[in-house]
Amino acid sequence: MEKKKFYITTPIYYPSDKLHIGHTYCTVATDTLARYHRLRGEDVMFLTGTDEHGQKIETKAKEAGVTPKEFVDNIVEGPRGVKDLWKLMNISNDRFIRTTDDYHVESVQKIFKKMYDKGDIYKGTYKGKYCTPCESFWTESQLVDGKCPDCGREVQDAEEEAYFFRLSKYADRIRDLLENTDFLQPRSRVHEMVKNFLDPGLEDLCVSRTSFSWGIPVDFDPKHVVYVWVDALSNYITALGYDNDRYHDYDKGWWPGVNIVGKEIVRFHSIIWPAMLMSLGEPVPKHVFGHGWLLLDGGKMSKSKGNVVDPYILAEKFGVDALRFFLMRTFPFGSDGNFSNELLIQTINTDLANDLGNLVSRTTAMVGKYFGGALPAGCRTCAEPQPFDQELRTLAEGLRSVYEEDMETFAPHKALDEVFKVIQRANKYIDENAPWALAKDMEANGKRLAHVLYNLLEATRICGILLTPFMPESCEKLFAQIGAPAESRTWDAAAEWGVLPETAAVTKGENLFPRLDMDKALEELEAAEAEAKKAALPAVEVEPQLTEKVDFDTFCKSDFRAVKVKACEAVKKSEKLLRFTLDDGTGVDRQILSGIHKWYEPEDLVGKTLIAIVNLPPRKMMGLESNGMLISAVHTEHGEECLHLIMVDDSIPAGAKLC
Ligand code: MSP
Repeated sequence: MEKKKFYITTPIYYPSDKLHIGHTYCTVATDTLARYHRLRGEDVMFLTGTDEHGQKIETKAKEAGVTPKEFVDNIVEGPRGVKDLWKLMNISNDRFIRTTDDYHVESVQKIFKKMYDKGDIYKGTYKGKYCTPCESFWTESQLVDGKCPDCGREVQDAEEEAYFFRLSKYADRIRDLLENTDFLQPRSRVHEMVKNFLDPGLEDLCVSRTSFSWGIPVDFDPKHVVYVWVDALSNYITALGYDNDRYHDYDKGWWPGVNIVGKEIVRFHSIIWPAMLMSLGEPVPKHVFGHGWLLLDGGKMSKSKGNVVDPYILAEKFGVDALRFFLMRTFPFGSDGNFSNELLIQTINTDLANDLGNLVSRTTAMVGKYFGGALPAGCRTCAEPQPFDQELRTLAEGLRSVYEEDMETFAPHKALDEVFKVIQRANKYIDENAPWALAKDMEANGKRLAHVLYNLLEATRICGILLTPFMPESCEKLFAQIGAPAESRTWDAAAEWGVLPETAAVTKGENLFPRLDMDKALEELEAAEAEAKKAALPAVEVEPQLTEKVDFDTFCKSDFRAVKVKACEAVKKSEKLLRFTLDDGTGVDRQILSGIHKWYEPEDLVGKTLIAIVNLPPRKMMGLESNGMLISAVHTEHGEECLHLIMVDDSIPAGAKLC
């Protein structure tokens, strides 16, 4: 029988900055769902990628002094870039699309032309507010205090020729799709879309730009580039081969698929995207699911706010699976959630170390200790079954069906809740049976003990199968420890009790999820974050040069001299100041105070020849008079200020004038 096909996508990410934990959340969730469908035996196509065109990328590349393509290449393919991050997070995408890929460009041009030929795209005039220095059009609502939201300067009324998509034509069909089908999920998003966009009336959408060039040119009118959302949304079908020869999967049963997206882009996916597909005469996605945001201190993470959480640091510190699990376990998919490091550590300790980790390690340890690593044949049954044997079995046998219902309705957090009910029940079953007490008389209780442990292995096996989409690597280790062969790890085997061979080889391996010390882990995390922040700062930064000119005569009024350090000491009660006694060639000692103790120890400076400006008016510091100033070179390195006193050749006599 042909396998059922299932197509699932993440949004394609803007590579304008490195990705953060919010993007990781979205991709991990989609990966978990993709793995769940694979576990069911479906033929899954999982797509992710990057959305690389648009003015923002063009501007960022200019600031960085590289071409837009070089800029995105670095963030997508470069070290610790998008692809590296998905590899680290064990993301199992089958395809990765970049909107700069040739085949995508070609398809988008054809898609645009098809809609134009159909009369759904027409040429008109775009009216808006224009910021000349930024070369950007803004709508009235985007302005900040009536000014350009980017640079804060005045904007002018302006018009430009543009192509428009007849979105208004599809208003009724979109309303029907939203209100009368399960296309958009969760249901709460339907109300938002209808109230905010359909009820006020859908307007035609401007789908080309002439004010910048980093985009896909409209091939029949190349001074226009295709609006970035038309370009980006098309990826879901171009990656299957729609209107290109790179792939040939569009008609093979994957489309229509499921688009998982964050809530702020639900409008594009549930209104513009289906309207585009209707115009093309293609089926709309089976579902668009709009998940919530991970918030930090109640607000959205953003690079400009400087409050982004780096997934690399968390994954390296706590392990990829622990991070994946935390993201899916803690935040109800579909709602916003507050991220915090404390919550992450707490979740690892409670669910993974205490509940799951303990169940696996206690069970495998006892099989090792009491039966040398393999239970005796016959342990599947028991002459005197106890009520709690059946309770555990019923709960575990029924787990797959409740789990399935939750996964099918995009509620992975609820599915995990169900798995943990079984894990907690199994831990309680250990206490109810007190295997250590049974083990005291193996002759009398050995059979019962073996049965208890077999039941625990079975509950663990079933939970392991259903946790696999969330924590693929850890579940492999779990299966190895309980000796579960491949055929006992399948979707079918998750609904059956008694599948594990009675004499499976059980080994207590490494602790799957060691318990963390909250304070120590937080401290280490903060240190790693500070280190990463520092490393991300430019290696060396120097102050920009002054553009204001100084006339030659004014410059010549500054008297710079070589001076020799006769004595140097720290000024009492000051952390910064050093007091210099200097030979300036006049025969009278000169005293200069300088705030450089952070960089120099006084004894290291005695005997050095330095440069000082000697005709500044005297200045009092900490009650001492300073007559002049020592000259240094300063710069910033990884965000830290560095200072170097200018020291010259000792053969230069004290008092020599610099000119
Ligand atoms: N390029 C568009 C998507 C085009 S799809 C045809 C885009 N890219 S994005 O990089 O800005 O965002 C990608 C996804 O990451 C979005 O679904 C967005 O909601 C999600 N997230 C970004 N920050 C997030 C959080 N803080 N929390 C959860 N998801 C967040 O939009």
